[in-house]
Parts: sequence; structure tokens; C-alpha cells
Amino acid sequence: KKPVIIDTDPGIDDAVAIAIALHDETLEVRLITTVAGNVSLEKVTNNALKLVRFFEMDVPVAAGANRPLIKEAIDASNVHGETGMGGYDFEEPDESLLLKEHAVTAMYKEIMNSEQPVTILAIGPLTNIALLIRLHPEVSDNIKEIVMMGGSTARGNAGVMAEFNVFADPEAAKIVFDSDIPLVMVGLDIGLKALVYPEDSRIIKGMNETGDMIYQLFQHYRGGSLRKGLKMYDSTAVGYLLNPDMFEIAETYVDIELNGPLTKGCTVVDLKGYLGKAPNAKVAVNIDTAQFKEWFVASIGKCK
Ligand code: BDR
Ligand code: CA
Repeated sequence: KKPVIIDTDPGIDDAVAIAIALHDETLEVRLITTVAGNVSLEKVTNNALKLVRFFEMDVPVAAGANRPLIKEAIDASNVHGETGMGGYDFEEPDESLLLKEHAVTAMYKEIMNSEQPVTILAIGPLTNIALLIRLHPEVSDNIKEIVMMGGSTARGNAGVMAEFNVFADPEAAKIVFDSDIPLVMVGLDIGLKALVYPEDSRIIKGMNETGDMIYQLFQHYRGGSLRKGLKMYDSTAVGYLLNPDMFEIAETYVDIELNGPLTKGCTVVDLKGYLGKAPNAKVAVNIDTAQFKEWFVASIGKCK
């Protein structure tokens, strides 16, 4: 099994991605770390614990950064609701799974103690990963790759040109992209194509307990509209881990705009090589939407 750490800010689409990752037989999710993003650190950590309890899995959770490195915090409660995961009445979380140590320390230990290189699935702002790289640069030797949902090869959703996870903490994203750790970027433009329509959510609803739970979260998710399709951003990153053939990938250089008053947080994806730099990321440039849908529904079908 592939050892995985999920760094997340649940988040309705995070919840779906976590469900799929936890139930896949080829992955071993060893740790879930949380980062302020969609809502506050306290809320996203509580949500992660609720999910672990719901799935009856003993995966430890560690709380990480409560704000970005430099920028003021933003949130996306307009998309995910005030609690970040509204719409389902979860049981109170099992606090015993919450580690006392900071997410960055927990990740460091997990990575250094792992007999196999660890994959990081990053589906929130990149603050924790950037801190990890700066505090413990030696981790790079035992990270297989970072697969992130974030950035965009096209336009943005948090600004004209910036996607939420990168826009929330652009300096952190810059550290990650400059780190030389193998990196896969599955961006906003891919998520915009990975849509779940009413007929799909009806199938999901009847499948199992997880399907029912997700169906209820979907009624509160403003990441698209039920009728025009809900955007499964974070699941596309899990999709890359589990079924990379769904994607068309370009190895290319990506830089993060940190200064432009109109473009701060934009991922500058140099597909044509204007900047003359060596590639630092594999960037998903297209997704087979029919395959995605089939994979997505089948994956929910494997859940509790
Ligand atoms: C990303 O932003 C968040 O709101 C979602 O959970 C996803 O990680 C999409 O831009
Ligand atoms: Ca997220």
C-alpha cells in the first residue's frame, strides 16, 4: 500500500476526497493534517475528526497552521457554509484521535519514520507543507511526491487569475513549487470539468452510508449548482493518485505571482517554455470527464 498524508481544510469537496482516499485498498492514509482555509483551523480540525469518526477509522489528525505565512487569512464559507461542512448531522468527534503535536511535527515524524517514501495529498492552502519544507528540509528525501489540488492553467475562482488554495497563501505555494520535491498540480480548470450532476448524486445517495452523507452535504455546497454540476475539485487530486490515466499531463515550469496587484496568487504555468526554466511540476492539463465520473461513482461505492 502507498503511504499517504492528507493535508486538508474540510470543506465539502475535501470530505468527499477524504472518503475516497480512506476507502481505497491501495492507499494507507497514515495521518490527516489540517490547515486554515475554507474555514478556521478550529472548524476544519473538528470536521476532519468528525469524518474519521464517521468512517470509523483510527487515522490520527493533527492541527496545523491557523493562518497563512504572510497574507491575511481569507475563507470560503460562502461555498462550504459557516461550519465548512454543513448539511449533515455528524456525531460529536472523537477527540482522542487528535494529536497534541503540531501538524508539521506530525508530518515530519511520519515521513522520517516511514520505510517507504510518503505521498502528500495537499487539498488546502499550502501553509503546512511550506513550513515543513523550511523547518525540516531533509523530508524531501522521503517524500515520493506532493499531489496538490490548486492553481490553474486558466483563470481563477478567488480572483481573476488566482485559485483559492494558492491565493489563500501564495508565499507558501512559492516555497512548495521551488522545493524540488516531485509535484503534481491538479488545478481549478480540471475541477471545473469534474462535475457531479443530479443524476449522479441520486445514484450516490442510494449506495451506502457515505453516499447518503455526501448527498446531504451536496445540498449545501455552493461549488457549482446542483443543476449545472457540482465541482469535485479535491477529488481530482485523489483521482490522479488512483487513476492517473484519466489525465493529460504536461511537465512544465510553474511560478507563483507574489507581487502583481491584480494577479497575486496566480500560478504562471509556462507551458510554452517562455521562461526557459526546467520543469518543476507535472501539471494536469486535461481530464477525461467520462472516465472521471465512472471512477468517482465507483469510488463512493467502495465506501462504508
Ligand atoms: C479549492 O478551494 C476550496 O474551497 C476547495 O476545498 C478546494 O480545495 C478549490 O479552489
Ligand atoms: Ca480543500
